[in-house]
Formats: sequence, structure tokens, C-alpha cells
Amino acid sequence: MDILLGQVLRFDGDPFAEGRAHIDEAVAVDGGRIVATGTKDALRAAHPGARVTDYGRCLISAGFVDAHVHYPQTAIIASWGKRLIDWLDTYTFPEEMRFGDPAYARDIADRYLDLTLANGTTTVCSYATIHPESVDAFFAAAGARDLRAFAGKTCMDRNAPNRLRDTAQSAYDDSKRLLDAWHGRDRLSYVITPRFSPTSTPEQLAALGALWREHPDCLMQTHLSEQTDEIAWVRDLFPQSRDYLDTYEAQGLLGEGAVFGHAIHLTDRERARLIEAGASVVHCPTSNTFIGSGLFDMGLARAGLRVGLATDTGGGSSFSMLRTMAAAYEVGQLRGDPLHPSQLWWLATQGSARALRAEASIGNIAPGMEADLVVVDLASTPAIEQATPRATDVWGEVFPTIMMGDDRAIRAVWVNGRPR
Ligand code: GUN
Ligand code: ZN
Repeated sequence: MDILLGQVLRFDGDPFAEGRAHIDEAVAVDGGRIVATGTKDALRAAHPGARVTDYGRCLISAGFVDAHVHYPQTAIIASWGKRLIDWLDTYTFPEEMRFGDPAYARDIADRYLDLTLANGTTTVCSYATIHPESVDAFFAAAGARDLRAFAGKTCMDRNAPNRLRDTAQSAYDDSKRLLDAWHGRDRLSYVITPRFSPTSTPEQLAALGALWREHPDCLMQTHLSEQTDEIAWVRDLFPQSRDYLDTYEAQGLLGEGAVFGHAIHLTDRERARLIEAGASVVHCPTSNTFIGSGLFDMGLARAGLRVGLATDTGGGSSFSMLRTMAAAYEVGQLRGDPLHPSQLWWLATQGSARALRAEASIGNIAPGMEADLVVVDLASTPAIEQATPRATDVWGEVFPTIMMGDDRAIRAVWVNGRPR
């Protein structure tokens, strides 16, 4: 049994609706689970044998949940000057070709997970490459760190280099084999992953739709309406479809557990269908500014859609969910919608967990939940420290770290009840 002292942040619901944040003085952890939160005195009295770690005024939060990343793009992060389709062709596809080599894939998976853990992220939902080896490498690396993690083989059977193409049948067969091997093992979940409609034939989308029907407890992830040129291309490739979402919907790839990255340029029909279907969308603000995609509408969260937050490494320009919250704030400001710090923090934890349908186990601090925690120093640099004394509440104290913080603010990370 461990007791951690600090400013323990928990949410009683969604702050885009009626939910509110609460601060306790202590959290007790045992056997990988949260046991209780409360005052220092009460928890110490209840558990006199517990080991106590005092983190002072640090914020103790659920670990960050990064709901959309491409771990194979770790080494090409911050590549200059392209927009989506050129960026894929110039930087992404050549790098992804290397992941048929299991040693390289494992090396990057280890590097990626060390970087994200150093940034306080305890769960990611990643795309791999078309190579089954890239999925094995990621799950082995995540399992070695005892992480709750999500990933799947990226499927593409057209409009990609030959060496990065599978077929409808091999995408189904490889995905199924990987799903059987990894889904539900340790803390790992397989995600059915067609990259996006431009790189999948309707036959491949249908094959993956069939696989999803056979395994409805898996998530399905893909990209939706990120850039206007991409949407125009989809219109040319799928002349019979009503819109971009329809290219997925028609093949059985819309429903609860469908996780759509970006979802910026939506039609009214697409918004209504996403909400009606109980799907999730993931806001990737550093990517959307870096690749020049557009400004996500957080009105979707207020309309009841499950919205997560993500770095979209390496289209995104950071591994840090603090930096990602800052970018979400800036995107909101550009739309006249300044998000409250509690909303930003919630998106990076419980919102993302909800988008991945994992909110019962991760993303919040509550009895019975898995003990994945981040301990955040709210005075990690001189610039941040000098900005906090005027704070009149905890969010005034947290906001400078959201806007200016990085991995130096991460004092400790606990994974499955143990400090790393
Ligand atoms: N759309 C299809 N593939 C990708 C990708 O790798 N990154 C981003 N940002 N968008 C995509
Ligand atoms: Zn992506």
C-alpha cells in the first residue's frame, strides 16, 4: 500500500457538461489500483502501514492518455514545409518502410514509449505500419513497461508505395492474427486500423468492417476530414458516397468504438451521424497547426460527442500532452472559444479515455481505477514559477504549466501502481 500526498485532482464528470474537478490531499494505491482519496490524516489513519510519498504542492493526476499517435513517425517528427499528402509521401511513407525490420521497429517503439512516459503519458492509442512486425514490436515494448496500450496494423491497399501495400484479404488475415495474439493480453488492446479512405479500396474497408463485426469489443481507428484537399480526393475516389464519413459507414466502420482522428471539416450530416452512432473523434491540435489542416470545433464535445485529445506524433510537433493542451487552448482562442484549464486537463485524461471507451479503468482518480498517475511540478521553470503566485485557485496555479510546461514539469510517473 502506498499513499501519495499532493494536490490530487479528480473529476466527477465531463466539464463540457455538468462535471466538476475536485482536489484532495492524498491518494492511496494498492495492487495496481486506486483505493481511496481524501485528507492526509484520514488516509494515514485508515492505512497505518502504508509507505507515504510526499509530493508537496505537485498536482497528482491520472496519467495522460494520448488518443491518436503514430509511434513509427517518432524519428520524423518536426519535418519541414509540407501539407498532408506531400508530408505522407515525402517523410512518412519512406520512414514507415523500415518497420518490416523487427529490430528497428522495437528500437523505435522503446524510444517512443520512453519519450511519452517522460512526458507523463501512461496510455497511447497508436497506429503501427502495414508490417505485422511493427505491431508485435509495439505491444512487446508496451507490455515490458506494464502499460495499458492500444494499437493496430495500419492497412493500405492503394495510393501508397508498393512496399507499403497489403490487400483486402491480407489486411483481414494479418489483423485477425494480431488481434488473436494481443487483444486482452496484459493491459493491451488491439485496434482495427484502416489508415484512411484514400489508401483503402472499398473492398479493404469492407473486409475490416467484417472483422470489426466479429470482434465488436475492439476499437476501430482511422482518419476523417483532416484537410480540404484530402476531402476533395475522397470525393473523387468515392463518387457514390454522400460524404467522407459515408465511405466508412457504408462498409460497417461507424459505430460505438469507432475513433476518428482530426474530424475538422465536417458537414452537418457527418456531425449528426457521429453523435447518433456514439462514435469518438480525436482533436490533434499541434498536428492541425503544424500540417496546416484547420481549427477543430470543440462544440462537438458540448454536443455530446466523445472527444479525445492527442499529439498525433509525428504529424504533431510534440510528445507532450501539456504542449498539446496549450495548442488546444490556442486553437480554441482562434475560434473565439477559450477552453477552461479544467476542460483542457479533462480532455487529456478522462476525455481521451472515454474516446477509447476505457473510462472505467483509466483517465481519472477514483476507487477501483487503475493506478496510472502523473505527478506534475507546478513550478518547474523560473518562467512558470514567477507566474503562479497571483493564482486565486488551483486552475490559476495549473494554467502556466499547461501553457509553458514540458517534460521538466513531470516529477514522477506511476504505472499500474508502481513508480517508474
Ligand atoms: N492521414 C492519413 N495518414 C495520416 C498520418 O500518418 N498522419 C496524419 N496526420 N494524417 C494522416
Ligand atoms: Zn494520424
